[in-house]
Amino acid sequence: MARKAGVPRNALIVQTTTEPGTVHVARVEMDDFPTIRRLNRTIFGEARVINQLDRRDLLLFLAWLDGEPVGFKVGYGLSESIYYSAKGGVLEACRGKGIARALLHAMEHEARVLGYQRFAYDTFPNMHPGMTVLGLREGFAVTAAGYNATYQDYRIRFEKEL
Ligand SMILES: CC(C)(COP(=O)(O)OP(=O)(O)OC[C@H]1O[C@@H](n2cnc3c(N)ncnc32)[C@H](O)[C@@H]1OP(=O)(O)O)[C@@H](O)C(=O)NCCC(=O)NCCS
Repeated sequence: MARKAGVPRNALIVQTTTEPGTVHVARVEMDDFPTIRRLNRTIFGEARVINQLDRRDLLLFLAWLDGEPVGFKVGYGLSESIYYSAKGGVLEACRGKGIARALLHAMEHEARVLGYQRFAYDTFPNMHPGMTVLGLREGFAVTAAGYNATYQDYRIRFEKEL
C-alpha cells in the first residue's frame, strides 16, 4: 500500500477504496500549517484558516489521497469539557470517499484521549450542506441556531457526547 513522501510514518490508513486510492489521516504539527493554509484557500477561497491559533489543545489533522494532501481539520478546546472543530474541508475532486468522516473520527478520538466529554462544531447548512448531513448521520444533535450577520446566513451548532 503506497505511502508517499509527506505522509507521516505513523499516519493511520483509514480506508482503501474500491477505486484506486488510499486515504491516510494523521495528526500533524504547525510545520504542516502551510499545507492546511493552501487547502483552506482552495476549498473556502479565503486566506484565514481560523481567527486565533493560540488555543487550548489546538489539533491539526491532514488527509492524503495517494500521498497528496486533500483535506484538513482544525480544532481546539472550547471549555474544560467541550472540544470544538473549528474548520475543515476536502478538495472538491476528492469528495464522497469518506475523507471528512475519517477526519472527524480522528479528531473525536484525540479529543476523547485529551479528556473532553463533548464534541461541537458550527456549520452553515445553506452554504455547506455536507457537514449537516454528516453530523446527523454521526449522531450529533442541534443545540443552537441563529442568523449570522457576517455571513448573512443561518448557522447551526451540532454537539454530541464523546
Ligand atoms: C462537507 C465536506 C467536508 C464533506 O467531505 P467528504 O469527504 O466528501 O465527506 P464524506 O465522503 O466523508 O461524507 C460523509 C457523509 O457526509 C454526508 N455528506 C457529505 N457531503 C455531502 C453533501 N454535499 N450533501 C449531502 N451529504 C453529504 C454523507 O452522508 C456522507 O456519507 P455517505 O456517503 O455514507 O452518505 C466537503 O464537501 C467540503 O469540504 N465542503 C466544503 C467545505 C465545508 O463544507 N466544510 C465544512 C464547513 S462546517
